[in-house]
Amino acid sequence: MITSNRVSILTTVAAAAVLSMAAAPAYARGPVPDPAVKEFQRVVDAAHARYKDLKDGKNADYIPILTETPSDLFGVVIVTKDGKVYSAGDVDYVFSIQSVSKPFTAALVMTEQGPDTLKEKIGVEPTGMAFNSKLALAVYENSVNPLVNAGAIAAVSLVQATSEQERWNKVQQNLSDFAGRPLTVLEKVYESEYTTAFGNRGIANLLYNWGRLYSEPEEALRVYTRECSVGVSARDLGMMGATLANGGVNPLTKKQVMPAAHVPELLAVMATAGFYDESGVWMFKAGLPAKTGVGGGIVAVVPGRFAIAAFSPRLNEAGNSVRSMKAIQDIAAELGVGVFGPNPN
Ligand code: DON
Repeated sequence: MITSNRVSILTTVAAAAVLSMAAAPAYARGPVPDPAVKEFQRVVDAAHARYKDLKDGKNADYIPILTETPSDLFGVVIVTKDGKVYSAGDVDYVFSIQSVSKPFTAALVMTEQGPDTLKEKIGVEPTGMAFNSKLALAVYENSVNPLVNAGAIAAVSLVQATSEQERWNKVQQNLSDFAGRPLTVLEKVYESEYTTAFGNRGIANLLYNWGRLYSEPEEALRVYTRECSVGVSARDLGMMGATLANGGVNPLTKKQVMPAAHVPELLAVMATAGFYDESGVWMFKAGLPAKTGVGGGIVAVVPGRFAIAAFSPRLNEAGNSVRSMKAIQDIAAELGVGVFGPNPN
């Protein structure tokens, strides 16, 4: 016979178990198959087919070599937290990662020095302004976020290193660890960007003048430009996002690339600033933390589950890939995976 005392103990234990399950982040709940997995190939194929022939937007041209990327290339991919890949189109074409590198170097800064350093020495405030805005620095008293150019140049300067080579090696290794394979610089992209980087050089010097850059400015500019010139495919971006979905553990190599505890902080910055002055519209429509780059790549993260990545070189006015945005938004809506609840399309 169960006494009322035992009933209340059992109820308390059951309630605690439910509570602890609820408190456990999704990535810590073990290898449960994603309930939406049977839909993945269908929604990826459908999004690719829907936008394949869309010609809106144009390649970035302020980095001259980016005009040479064939504009019709288009790839869409989902990578699950256990490394399964569902793809359509040009998902193995290698293009420059550009600003999609930024959250991953912010992750490195948090790994080395903790989130407070990121918050205090760079900032985490969305600017609502363009990625290369100098005005934002004045408005926010030099405290922006690591996903705009100023904050990303500051982030590489914060990486703990005693030489430029060591700084670069750490940045490159970290990006490679997120991708689960060695990534290398597209040297022609680097030359094209570094020889025309007058705006970013200005930003680096302003930050240094204000005590908000933590290495010599030209060194920070070179390392930042190199990280933007790293070659990736849409599949790589998917794997990098899947590492974040998987609590910082790369699905292929099983390496813990960043502490699981800091993944939510990083995703929060991606949610508020990943699309610059389009971040509000992006969250409103797609409901997912994401990062975009002028090479045409975008990666979005469904925390604890999977990543959606896409590549298409034609950009809108804000510098975000037109077809990549549309494809990811559609997939997020069809799967109902917005972080605040299913998002309508
Ligand atoms: O510094 C720049 O302007 C480029 N290397 C990166 C900008 C970028 O990708 C903006 N994203 N949409």
